[in-house]
Amino acid sequence: MILKDIRITKELTQLEASLICFVSLRTYKRLELDPKYKETDKYKRAIQSLNKYKNTVNSRLTSKIITVVGLGYVGLSIATLLSQQNQVYAVDISKEKVDLIKKKQCPFIDKDISVFLKNKSLNLIPTTDLESSIRNSEYVIIATPTNYNPESNKFDTSSVESVIKEALRINPKVWIIIKSTVGVGFTKYISEQYQYGRILFSPEFLREGKALYDNLYPSRIVVGVPTRTQQYLSKAKQFAHLLKNGALKNDVEINIVGSSEAEAIKLFSNTYLAFRVAYFNELDSFALNKGLDSNDIIKGVSGDPRIGDFYNNPSFGYGGYCLPKDTKQLKSSFDDVPEKLISAIIDSNESRGKFISKDIINKAKELNIDNPVIGIYRLSMKTNSDNYRESSVLNVIKELKKKDVRVIIYEPIISNKERLFNGCQVEKDLEVFKKKSDIIVANRYYSLLDDVKDKVYTRDLLRRD
Ligand SMILES: NC(=O)c1ccc[n+]([C@@H]2O[C@H](COP(=O)([O-])OP(=O)(O)OC[C@H]3O[C@@H](n4cnc5c(N)ncnc54)[C@H](O)[C@@H]3O)[C@@H](O)[C@H]2O)c1
Repeated sequence: MILKDIRITKELTQLEASLICFVSLRTYKRLELDPKYKETDKYKRAIQSLNKYKNTVNSRLTSKIITVVGLGYVGLSIATLLSQQNQVYAVDISKEKVDLIKKKQCPFIDKDISVFLKNKSLNLIPTTDLESSIRNSEYVIIATPTNYNPESNKFDTSSVESVIKEALRINPKVWIIIKSTVGVGFTKYISEQYQYGRILFSPEFLREGKALYDNLYPSRIVVGVPTRTQQYLSKAKQFAHLLKNGALKNDVEINIVGSSEAEAIKLFSNTYLAFRVAYFNELDSFALNKGLDSNDIIKGVSGDPRIGDFYNNPSFGYGGYCLPKDTKQLKSSFDDVPEKLISAIIDSNESRGKFISKDIINKAKELNIDNPVIGIYRLSMKTNSDNYRESSVLNVIKELKKKDVRVIIYEPIISNKERLFNGCQVEKDLEVFKKKSDIIVANRYYSLLDDVKDKVYTRDLLRRD
């Protein structure tokens, strides 16, 4: 192909092409027009430069300036994903977090984010400066916390609301995408407050520990619009494609739906996952109580492909940041609509904690141990997790404490200074912990416990999360 054709297919003017080829406009015109230059090195270098420019041109056409607010599991994984192709301001109120990310360190355990921060060329700008980030951006993605408030029986959305208010004050033209989990109807309600101020909702389905992986290989991309006008639908599609462009999976289904439907998709998905955990836990409680082999029953039940051999490993209950709060929020969203199942899932999870604590005490009785010392090995929910937010073992501890059982804890992520956790002694030395404990309670089994296997109480039958 000749120089002129390459320039035309890339939709460049002669001036732009001359800048790309590092020659004057006069020289560039000569290269294009005068056949005597065709065999020269200058001509060949110009061809190479324009060919290389292909990617830049493509990304220049689709690349956006985006601010992501809240750099937890959701925000940092989305910011990392999008910064492969776009300029992303990554904003948090925590200076400590922002400083770590500036040093290309992930503030929590996530293998892929760590690798991407260190090795990929990302256009990621960590900052605490919300104002100038938003002023320059076309999109603002909100990924701040929405904790459940037991007094109001719904999510506390104040951090999301304050970011929306600030964003629209700083830049009324910006498009806002809520990634935080919110109650059904929230996006429509808040949009109406701001006279349809360009707000969308996109539910996040990632798992902690695999936050970036789940965005590189998304199960689906859902974007919800509060109103089905052409402008909203096309912006929702554009945002979905920004996520898709960052993904490594080729066939990703995109669903553009109403914002309330998108909010419901998130809450019903998590409640179904909570149901599955509660269901296999009730199966396990039944087997334990009747002296049956739980593993055999689970295997037999899961053999039906409609049920499936996954997400069926017994535990002390569902927990973590999302399932407990999302099930409660969904229950409260039912208002006057009759429901039994959602409440039953929540009740079942509470019963499981009580059942497990009783079973632990019974085990001590069977072993003729008076005043047993129960050692809790790790507070976290999942294997190798670095947080214990709403972890199910916390309910077991609470129940044991109610019965005045002596509990000690081994949890390396508790800071060295802390000697007590919820009134229980924290033992820092694993060997001392193993010696002191009559029974070692572990929601998930670790090979580090092999030498004290006989003391271990776990329901981790399948040895997986
Ligand atoms: N963790 C998950 O697995 C998961 C999955 C899907 C959806 N979600 C939802 O996403 C949201 C965020 O969850 P997360 O786990 O990433 O939270 P997180 O607690 O890990 O991180 C939240 C971050 O937001 C920052 N922050 C709080 N208020 C802020 C503000 N006003 N401005 C700027 N930054 C602020 C905090 O400093 C923190 O770094 C929640 O609504 C959650 O329900 C979480």
